[in-house]
Amino acid sequence: MELTWDQDQEKNLTQMPGPKGIELYVMGYLFQKRPLYVWGMMKETFGDVIYAPWKNRESIFLFNPEDVNYVLKEHHVNFKKGKEYEQMAPLLGEGLLTSEGDLWRRQRRIMAKEFHQARTEQYLRAIHESTQKKIIEMKSREKAFDISLDFNALTFDIAGKIFFGSDLGEHSKMAQEALYTETERINTRIRRIWNFPHNFPTAENKKGMKAVRDLKSIVTGILSQGGHDQKPNVLSKLVSYRDESGNPLPNNLISDEVMTLLLAGHETTSNGLSWATYLLAKNPEWILKIKNELRDYGKTPEELCREDLDNLPLLKAVWQEALRIFPPIPIIARQTIKDDVIGGYHVPAGKSVMCVPYVTHRDPRFWVKPDEFMPERFINRVVSRDDCTYFPFAKGPRACIGEDLATTEGVLILAYLAHYFDWNLKKGFIAKPTHHITLRSENGIWIQLNN
Ligand code: HEM
Repeated sequence: MELTWDQDQEKNLTQMPGPKGIELYVMGYLFQKRPLYVWGMMKETFGDVIYAPWKNRESIFLFNPEDVNYVLKEHHVNFKKGKEYEQMAPLLGEGLLTSEGDLWRRQRRIMAKEFHQARTEQYLRAIHESTQKKIIEMKSREKAFDISLDFNALTFDIAGKIFFGSDLGEHSKMAQEALYTETERINTRIRRIWNFPHNFPTAENKKGMKAVRDLKSIVTGILSQGGHDQKPNVLSKLVSYRDESGNPLPNNLISDEVMTLLLAGHETTSNGLSWATYLLAKNPEWILKIKNELRDYGKTPEELCREDLDNLPLLKAVWQEALRIFPPIPIIARQTIKDDVIGGYHVPAGKSVMCVPYVTHRDPRFWVKPDEFMPERFINRVVSRDDCTYFPFAKGPRACIGEDLATTEGVLILAYLAHYFDWNLKKGFIAKPTHHITLRSENGIWIQLNN
């Protein structure tokens, strides 16, 4: 769609509300330290559409569902991924999360088949196997522990099985550590106003590049064996893919895709589970409700298949409510490709535009008592593709490809947890939400099992 605008009607970007003068510096400083707090404060102070002209970090924030819909869905053709994604290039190359244009379209088509509902059913065995192992391990815990570490290991284990066909065995610990090291570096670079190029030999870059090399060598090793293929898995599907002319996918692209899935597919789900466990511990009546729902349904978690999960509305609502209050991706970054008009303001090409589920999900105009954990709000609510008051998986063509897998994983693991355990928070524990690419708790999630 070609855009034209009437200079008399559209306002200039500099007329957009937002911090100016000293306020701009104070908010910029706070933004580095406590972004979650600053997003909310900006909305309270300036409204739904905000321009923050920070040097080297100039951003437009959109909190209104209509504007979110415009950027992510209705007029998505004029937006590419945000500049932040450039920091992920060494790790993710041209995988689905970071690629653009025709390459992205082709990859999305190929991958969409792998993450279709029917495929999720095939992958369910992997989720059951890994979760059962974890539950046995947790049963012997007498002291309080940080369950976010368990969820990280569990979702990584599941990702290995689903994406590679077997767990990563001896490579698992090394791969997890390398991924952690590189995501630390990415996070630091996203926050900084200026960075050395990736290949400039600072200590930080050297450490990160070594982690990337280690990860790539694990994937290359698996690829050289043709991908594990004992069980259905994504890698073997990518390896056996042929286009209309019979050409396979290049190995470096397969490696980028697998790396993307490892990164995008485990920490997000793990964070969702950690926050759900935290919120349930603060609202123990809901632990009881989901225990009863499972008991009345008459199946043990081991017997649940994907369809059963749709018949457990309370359990699913707990998962949805946890992702509302603590969306694992709390901010979604885009850039304008051409000049555009957003919220009535003229926005030139190349500007950063941020949609912020963390704020929109807590807006009292759309959510009754938004700060309260009330899973019942989701029981009769169908979250449509157009509903941009709730978008933990984003919206539009670039919405999360793993939504169905993540939901199946999240709901099933919560079913196991509620069936086998009762839990409280460790005495005096208060989680500290922090934005670290994903929304995690800075001090973990410390719980005490009561069994
Ligand atoms: C609770 C768990 C999850 C949440 C909240 C989540 C959220 C998101 C969001 C918000 C995006 C859009 C990012 C953007 O456009 O900037 C996204 C994209 C993506 N997610 Fe997820 N995700 C989750 C789990 C998963 C899983 C399990 C996988 C593995 C298959 C996955 C793979 C991806 C990929 C590959 C993309 C890029 C899609 C594209 O650009 O075409 N995610 N996710």
